[in-house]
Amino acid sequence: MKILVVGGGGREHAIVRKLKENPKATEIFCAPGNGGISADAVCVPIKATNVDGMASFAKENQIDFVVVAPDDPLVLGMVDAMNAAGIDTFGPTRAAARIEGSKVFSKDLMKKYGIPTAGYETFDDPAKVIDYIKAQSTFPAVIKADGLALGKGVIIAQNLQEAEDAVHSIMQDKIFGASGSRVVVEEFLTGPEVSVLAFCDGETVVPMVSSMDHKRALDGDQGLNTGGMGTVAPNLCYTAEIAEVCMKEIFRPTMDAMKAEGCPFSGCLFFGLMLTPDGPKVIEYNCRFGDPETQVVLPLLETDLLEIMLAIRDRRLHEIEVRFAGRHAACVVMASGGYPVKYQTGCLIEGLDENGQRPDATVYHAGTKRDAEGYKTAGGRVLGVTCTGDTAKEALEKAYAAVEKIHFQDAHYRRDIGAKNTL
Ligand code: AMP
Ligand code: GLY
Repeated sequence: MKILVVGGGGREHAIVRKLKENPKATEIFCAPGNGGISADAVCVPIKATNVDGMASFAKENQIDFVVVAPDDPLVLGMVDAMNAAGIDTFGPTRAAARIEGSKVFSKDLMKKYGIPTAGYETFDDPAKVIDYIKAQSTFPAVIKADGLALGKGVIIAQNLQEAEDAVHSIMQDKIFGASGSRVVVEEFLTGPEVSVLAFCDGETVVPMVSSMDHKRALDGDQGLNTGGMGTVAPNLCYTAEIAEVCMKEIFRPTMDAMKAEGCPFSGCLFFGLMLTPDGPKVIEYNCRFGDPETQVVLPLLETDLLEIMLAIRDRRLHEIEVRFAGRHAACVVMASGGYPVKYQTGCLIEGLDENGQRPDATVYHAGTKRDAEGYKTAGGRVLGVTCTGDTAKEALEKAYAAVEKIHFQDAHYRRDIGAKNTL
């Protein structure tokens, strides 16, 4: 089988490495990929958002199966374009990707089908938002841009002034582009956050092992929001009882709701949950594998990933037994100093072998390139250093030991990944 993975970060590296385990995967391409991925797949310089270019490449090269991993090509309809060209895919259609692409769509879906989430109101007039926040007068207030905003479209305002500033920058200055024409204002929830990825074939939903992301740049959840500074799996807050409640009140109803709306969800659905005092609630849906959640979830997957994806393609996910190792995984992200604001690239990375790996860890490359001198930094998040262990502690200790042996100028990583992962 000739397989094309669309994307070029740590998540795509984890997917490529997992797909490679199946001998059926004779050729794997990744577009655009990155320096580290080039050790595992043929990288093709096509931007992930170039829907037509990607479909032409897949057709010309007789690709059998395309895995569309990032949110923007999914929301742009890359799966529909591939299917129109007669190519099989893993990922939701454009209509189903609205579950992430539009907050208004996802909030209205949850309200209509009684899926627990934060209470909310939708607005397209800035003055009305401010009136509403003034009338509510409860802080913090959560303000979200309707569309995709690189994971940064959420502002938690601590007072009226911050709320006014947020509304101004989202709706008038359009800091998140057109995605800020409409906003959702929602109730502030509290409790531990859990990420649950689930395989879906439009009908059946199979949750994977749970995980915990660390979104802030600095230790103690300080600093700016990032794309994710590290992950651990499983998330120990997510007990078997909670999993059962989520299946009954959230996962199953979401699958049924999407089907009832005429856009059954096929691919990986990401449930961002908050375990509130009133029970688990949905904070957000993503229409794809999470990054860096995938980097800890896939290493624990025992069932062959390609077989699962092919079963999803054929709508026979219910026939497959999806097994996870009863072990633990930890991923520590090494980022360029200054990320997520301003940082340098092109720095030589020391401590990796010629395949960009280490004997004591799996190194998922997020932002690297490769030249005659070796691997160099090429992005904000550079590497996701991942280890498994029999306990959460062992996995973390191994990951940190490996991180300490990797060096590049101004490397930054959090020292407290997984520190809160307790029961
Ligand atoms: P997102 O960019 O949608 O992943 O949201 C970023 C973060 O904002 C989430 O991980 C939560 O920590 C926080 N957040 C989003 N919505 C709420 C809410 N309704 N209440 C409290 N925190 C929230
Ligand atoms: N880690 C959260 C995301 O992928 O958006």
